[in-house]
Amino acid sequence: MTDIKQIISSLIEKEINIDVYDYIKEIEDSSKGDYAFPCFSLSKEMHKSPVDIANELVEKIKDERIDKIESVNGYLNFFINREYLAKFVLSEYDNDKENYGKEKHDETVLIEYSSPNVCKPFHIGHMRTTLIGHALYNIFKYMGYNTISINHLGDYGTQFGKLIEGYRLWGSEYDLSTDSMDKLVEIYVRINDLCANDESVLERCRENFRKLEDKDPECVALYEQFKELSLKEFKKTYDMLGIHFDSIRGEASYVDSIDEVINMLEAKNKLQISEGATIVDLTDEGINAPCIVKKSDGSSIYASRDLAAILYRARTYDFDKCIYVTGYEQDLHFKQVFAVAKYLDLDKKYVDGLEHVSYGLYSLKEGKMSTRKGNFIKLEDVINESISRAKEVILEKNPELEDIDETAKKVGIGAVIFSDLYNSRIKDEVFDLDTMLNFQGETSPYIQYMYVRIQSILKKTNDEVLLNNVSYDKLTDDLSYALIKTIYSYNSVLNEVINKKEPYLLSRYLIKLANEYSSFYSNNKVLDDNDEIRKTRLYLISMVGEILKSGMNLLGIEMPNKM
Ligand code: ARG
Repeated sequence: MTDIKQIISSLIEKEINIDVYDYIKEIEDSSKGDYAFPCFSLSKEMHKSPVDIANELVEKIKDERIDKIESVNGYLNFFINREYLAKFVLSEYDNDKENYGKEKHDETVLIEYSSPNVCKPFHIGHMRTTLIGHALYNIFKYMGYNTISINHLGDYGTQFGKLIEGYRLWGSEYDLSTDSMDKLVEIYVRINDLCANDESVLERCRENFRKLEDKDPECVALYEQFKELSLKEFKKTYDMLGIHFDSIRGEASYVDSIDEVINMLEAKNKLQISEGATIVDLTDEGINAPCIVKKSDGSSIYASRDLAAILYRARTYDFDKCIYVTGYEQDLHFKQVFAVAKYLDLDKKYVDGLEHVSYGLYSLKEGKMSTRKGNFIKLEDVINESISRAKEVILEKNPELEDIDETAKKVGIGAVIFSDLYNSRIKDEVFDLDTMLNFQGETSPYIQYMYVRIQSILKKTNDEVLLNNVSYDKLTDDLSYALIKTIYSYNSVLNEVINKKEPYLLSRYLIKLANEYSSFYSNNKVLDDNDEIRKTRLYLISMVGEILKSGMNLLGIEMPNKM
């Protein structure tokens, strides 16, 4: 994609022969110009004050694509010719509408997200990783990276020893053919209570886990059954959210390759024994806590399964980037794992490509979520509640609407996703359904509503929406120009999301576009009697609609056609 910054920087470079592209910034307030070039960085090299440099350059640069340049306190402010920018953006868009803003890259990017734990409820603790990860996956993919989504299922751990014990004790009380997860969780809560009071039960649970590791047929069969029931349940949530994984590969699948990890570390002399456990000291890496790679009883551990997964992923995908989306409570874990990865027989490229994308946590008003204590909210329930609230609103406002259920689903699910992706991922948040499902203000239903209004205008007319019918001189007013500039920045916003791994930048962008559309619409008649104006505006609003839809789809949200 040609880029306006490129045009401006080459005009400056023609005069001074210094690469200035990276210094050129967009100006927020269009009345001050579109792009600014601060001359301060040149001052040393050119032995002149920034103000003098700006004053000289302003005299020299002339180009028909620039209407005006102002020199203000060492800054050069460029006013792009509005007709030129309109033509530039619209032709680029028209060229390949579905792919506007896209790029092509050779890198392979793995995005690991969601990774819930088998036999535990899919609660809102896993909501953020699922939604942030999915949005990043969509955006990387859209931007032309070879992108692969991975679900690192938590299907290994001592909890299965407990569950097996609980199932033996009380399994006959439960019919697992319906609501299986709720029942498994109930069994899990019950057995935990029992373990807390009776050491001998806890010992039996440990024994079950050891037997499971030794592939005891009864334990394995129960475990497989639990796992299958969980996956079925997870799939229900994923289907509602339109999420699929290119690879679902649980932690258990890495257990057999732990030895290889241990051998590599051994060969590099990195292993130590501490209180019976095998550890890697990381003080040289600036990390105070050692990484435990094997427990004292010889069983594998979370970190070593992650190390084995890195080897597997490097070999299977030859990745350039491997991104992990989890809560920040795992910051230390990933620091340790990435540090130990340096000691594996692994090309530096892979180690450099590891990246932990962490996010703040949801807490409940009642305190920390805990499966063991039964204190959690299931994601499925949040989604269903949102859909039913959306349905109520639609029934009230537009009872005649066809496909109310379909629309309620898109609106309800959109509200949940958008509110989760509306703030920087770093922030901790108290989970509040009412805030999340608020349909007023800067929300997904608002954007969907703007989109639907655009579609209804487009349906009202018999005019064909064609670039050939656009009169660029009708797009130079402030409100049209604002829309065009915002649409032009779609590509750079997507790149920023990728650089910062922050989907909220796209959410905010879409709100901005929807707001600008709303001002445009309240001040302009789209279906004007004047042919040129009408056809031009139709093209503009259809383009706005398509970008709103494209962006929302990237966040994981579907657009209704009516609401
Ligand atoms: N299953 C883990 C949990 O629920 C998250 C897994 C994160 N990914 C990883 N490669 N360790 O906390």
